[in-house]
Amino acid sequence: MTSHQDAMGAPPLEHCPLMPTYGPPTLQLVRGEGSWVWDRDGTKYLDLLSGLAVTSLGHSHPAVADALADQARTLLHVSNLFGTEPGWQVAQTLDRLLGTGQPGWPATGMRGQVFFSNSGAEANECALKLARRFGGRGRHVVVSAFGSFHGRTLATLHATGQPAKHEVFQPLPEGFRHVAWNDLDALEASLDPSVAAVLLEPVQGEGGVNPADAAYFQGVRRLCDERGILFMVDEVQTGLARCGAWFAHQVFDVEPDVVTMAKALGNGVPIGACWARTEVAAAFEPGDHATTFGGQPLATAAARAVLAVMEAEDLPARSARAGERLMAGAAALEGVAAVRGLGLLIAVELGGRESKAVAARLLELGAIVNAVTPTALRFAPSLLISDDEIDLAIDLLAKALT
Ligand SMILES: Cc1ncc(COP(=O)(O)O)c(C=O)c1O
Repeated sequence: MTSHQDAMGAPPLEHCPLMPTYGPPTLQLVRGEGSWVWDRDGTKYLDLLSGLAVTSLGHSHPAVADALADQARTLLHVSNLFGTEPGWQVAQTLDRLLGTGQPGWPATGMRGQVFFSNSGAEANECALKLARRFGGRGRHVVVSAFGSFHGRTLATLHATGQPAKHEVFQPLPEGFRHVAWNDLDALEASLDPSVAAVLLEPVQGEGGVNPADAAYFQGVRRLCDERGILFMVDEVQTGLARCGAWFAHQVFDVEPDVVTMAKALGNGVPIGACWARTEVAAAFEPGDHATTFGGQPLATAAARAVLAVMEAEDLPARSARAGERLMAGAAALEGVAAVRGLGLLIAVELGGRESKAVAARLLELGAIVNAVTPTALRFAPSLLISDDEIDLAIDLLAKALT
C-alpha cells in the first residue's frame, strides 16, 4: 500500500489516476462469477445491478469468454471497409428479434438495417443523425421527454430531458425539444413541421425506472404515422430481454422506426447498435456516418454469443418470471412504499427514506444496488439470477430496512 492509498486500496481523489467525474469509488472489485463479485479482500457481494443493466448473463459467462478468446485468436479487428461474419450475423439476429410477436414482420429477409457503435450514446448519436438526414433541411428537431436519459455526448445530452445536466455545457447543439413524460397531449402540441423524430425510452431507467403506459406508446406511434415523423425508441437500458420481452416496446405492442440498444449486447464488452427500418436507413449515404471500432469482430463475436445464450435460455420469459418474484417479495416488506418496473428493471420506493443510506447499508450487508432517485433503489440483476439469489436479495433488503 503506498502512502496515497487507503485501506481499500483506493487512492484519495486528488491522487486518483482517473478524472473526477464519478466521485470516490466505494470498492475495488477484482473478480466476478454469475451474480457475484469479489473485492480485493475476498469479500463477496450479490450484484443486483449488473454494471447498470450490462452483465445480463452474469459475470464471466463461459460462452462469452470462449467466444472472445476464439475470436481474438482468429481475427480481432478489421476496418468497416470489410465485412465480417459475426457482425452480419448479429445484425440479422437483432432484426429477427425485433420482429418477435410483430404481425407485419416478414417471415424471412430483413425488415431493417443496423449500424454498430461502441456505446449507448453513440447508438443514439447515430439515430439523431439519421433523423436529420431523413427529415431533410428545415425538419431536424427531435422531441424527447423530461426525465429521460439518452447519453453524455453533446447531442445526446441535449436530447436528455434533464435541464440541470445541460447548464454547465451550454451552448448545446440546437434542435431538441422536451415534453412532459407519458402525456400524449403535451407531445401532440410539440409536433410542428420542424419535427423529424420523437425519441423515447419505454421505461425511463436513469430517470427513476418509470415505465410508459402502453396507450401512450401506441398514441405516439399513431401521431408519428399521421405526420410522417420517425418514432425512435431508446432501448439502451431496457432492450435485450431485460424487461420481459426481447425489447420493452414489444410489451406495448408498437413497432418503432428506429431502435437503439447497447448495454446488454456484449455482456460487458463495449458495443451498441442502432437499428432502423430499411426505408429509413436508406436516408444515409456512404460517408454520412462512421466509426473505427463499431461492429468490429471481437465485439460482435461477444454479442453473437450473448444472443445465442439469451435465445437458448429464453431470457425474455425468464426475466418476466424473476421480475415478478423480486417485485412481489420487495413489495411485501415493511418500509417499502411501492415497487415499479418491467421484468428485471425494478425500482423499490422507500417511502421517504433516503435511498443512498439504504444502498450503503445493503453494501455493508453484501449486496449491490443503486439509489436511482433520492427515495428509490434500482434493481437490475443478471437475468440468470436464481430464485435462491432473489430470495436472498429480499432478505438482505429487509435487514437493510430495519
Ligand atoms: C436509456 C439510455 N440511453 C443511453 C444511455 C447512454 O449509454 P452509454 O453510457 O453506453 O453511452 C444510457 C446509459 O445509462 C441509457 O440508460
